[in-house]
Amino acid sequence: MEKIAFFDARSYDRTYFDALAPKAGLELLYLENKLTPQTAVLAGGCAGVCAFVNDELGVETLSRLAEQGVRCAALRCAGYNNVDLAAAQRLGIRVFRVPAYSPASVAEHAVALLLTLTRQTHRAFTRTRERNFSLEGLVGTDLEGKSVGVVGTGRVGMKFAQIMRGFGAHVLAYDPVPQWGAGLEYVRLDELIRRSDVISLHCPLTPATFHMLSRASFHRMRPGVILINTSRGALIDSEALLDNVKSGKVGAAGLDVYEEEADVFYEDVSSKVMRDDTLNLLLSQPNVLVTGHQAFLTREALKAIAEATTENLRKFFAGERVENEVSLEPAGV
Ligand code: NAI
Repeated sequence: MEKIAFFDARSYDRTYFDALAPKAGLELLYLENKLTPQTAVLAGGCAGVCAFVNDELGVETLSRLAEQGVRCAALRCAGYNNVDLAAAQRLGIRVFRVPAYSPASVAEHAVALLLTLTRQTHRAFTRTRERNFSLEGLVGTDLEGKSVGVVGTGRVGMKFAQIMRGFGAHVLAYDPVPQWGAGLEYVRLDELIRRSDVISLHCPLTPATFHMLSRASFHRMRPGVILINTSRGALIDSEALLDNVKSGKVGAAGLDVYEEEADVFYEDVSSKVMRDDTLNLLLSQPNVLVTGHQAFLTREALKAIAEATTENLRKFFAGERVENEVSLEPAGV
């Protein structure tokens, strides 16, 4: 059995991993801690670590892991912006991920955020529980006939685009690697920003996409634009977003991810003082809906993540080729 330190573990992870780990020859040491330079020591005696989106796999953490004999890091997610790949390569730590588990789960969550905001069901929910059946202030917007801009038309973005087409929306798309023939109108990012009633982000976070929706981008957007982000928080300049929500330029925002989410997401901080005023102010707006990075959280996706992660590790320890290894090349980012 190969021992793996499983960081940032939650009960729903265990449900799916427990069933598969023994068959893959793995003994999982579940740890509630996030992986950081300080907690890396907990992986002592383990041959690998299993990490998630907000774990820190920078050079310091990776060095400590390597010193303790850790040979691989299996990410149980698609994005790997939290890993210093150059350092991992230098230190001999191989990195694996789950490139595609259930694109539908993320795409459907983006649709859930969008429909909640266009039909204000989040506000109706709280009202009717108070026996307030007034419709004042709940006027919504149809998606049919609207221009929906999809940034990144990989697995998730394409699913989202298909659903939007089903709604009768006109889909504008931007991707440096377009998928011609999918019935989408590919345009430059600038044009997408100018023409879209709804903008949904589905591209990875890289140095090139950091703050791709910058303060300048907000100037070019349509008044009342609806923004949906289920990708990574730092794709949007959060302070610029807040200012544009306050000014009314942004009609609504559905955020499953947030730039500074690592300190609070996945934790119950309800009894603590939250010092992040940008997040505090975003959360206080009626037209901003925040979910705590849960777009992946469906039974189907959790099962697929556990299957792919245990298979990545099984193959690595068996000396087989791991197709889901993350290399320094930006392929499939
Ligand atoms: P994917 O790799 O299939 O597609 C990403 C697409 O983005 C590719 O077509 C790529 O060409 C494109 N792209 C790269 N650079 C771009 C740029 N500068 N501008 C526009 N497009 C660009 O990835 P997938 O599976 O569709 O996932 C998309 C993102 O969703 C992931 O990168 C991840 O950050 C996020 N995600 C979020 C989850 C959540 O729970 N909220 C769960 C899973 C993924």
